[in-house]
Amino acid sequence: MTIDQPLTPERGDGHPIARPRPAQRVETRDPATQNAEDWNLSERFSRARTIGAPRNDSHTHEAFAPMSIQTTNTRRYSPLDDVLISADHALRTLFGRPQTTERTNPAAPLPETELREDQRKHVARLMRINHTGEVCAQALYQGQALTAKLPETRQRMERSAEEENDHLAWCETRLEELGDRKSLLNPLWYAGAFAMGAATGLAGDKWSLGFVVETEHQVESHLNTHLEQIPTHDEKSRAILEQMKVDEIKHAQIAKSAGGADLPSPIRFAMKLTSRIMTRTVYWV
Ligand SMILES: [Fe+2]
Ligand SMILES: [Fe+2]
Repeated sequence: MTIDQPLTPERGDGHPIARPRPAQRVETRDPATQNAEDWNLSERFSRARTIGAPRNDSHTHEAFAPMSIQTTNTRRYSPLDDVLISADHALRTLFGRPQTTERTNPAAPLPETELREDQRKHVARLMRINHTGEVCAQALYQGQALTAKLPETRQRMERSAEEENDHLAWCETRLEELGDRKSLLNPLWYAGAFAMGAATGLAGDKWSLGFVVETEHQVESHLNTHLEQIPTHDEKSRAILEQMKVDEIKHAQIAKSAGGADLPSPIRFAMKLTSRIMTRTVYWV
């Protein structure tokens, strides 16, 4: 068996790429051609295994296998594993390089623009808000993934969660280009959103999906407000927000079609209030 590709290949900008997953891969190794020790190791697992097929009684997490390995694995993780995996996601989101999809940053091919100092500061602060919003989106999806009851729900939301990582990476890149920093409050907002996601996951899938629908609608509304404020010649910032808007609308539709319920008005109001607090504090801190 040879391993000819890295486990997590990287794009040009240093972000690892989430590898597309085949629906099923089947073990093709012939034990007769393997040495005994190697085969005994692989015998710990079944000979034909599926990947990305969550079990009803426990979470499963997929390892990104090198393309040259025709082996697949479905592994059951303990609660401690889940905690460690959640911590890993949190650290990656807050301090590391999130795992993005194959998509490229929509701002990458566009020219940099001249902004007055007051414009640059304002746009950077708006991008900081969007970046924190994406941190919260990651936390929300991770919290829900931990407690969501139906495996189909986790699977359906998986691509949306990966696309939120694209948004996170694009906003971070734009923030750097504008010479500004991420919010210092991100760990706090991550913790809050994670708890919220886990709570809605416990409440039931229709409520957690409904929470996603409402969140995406509110994010779309924020993006519209920001697009009104960003100078028209700042094509880079606008391209990122325009693509995010398209994605957020799609995420809301996916969550709705997966069975998301309409949230009661007091919950929607509380979400708007929380979002207002977040945007007003993150603009400055
Ligand atoms: Fe997003
Ligand atoms: Fe989204």
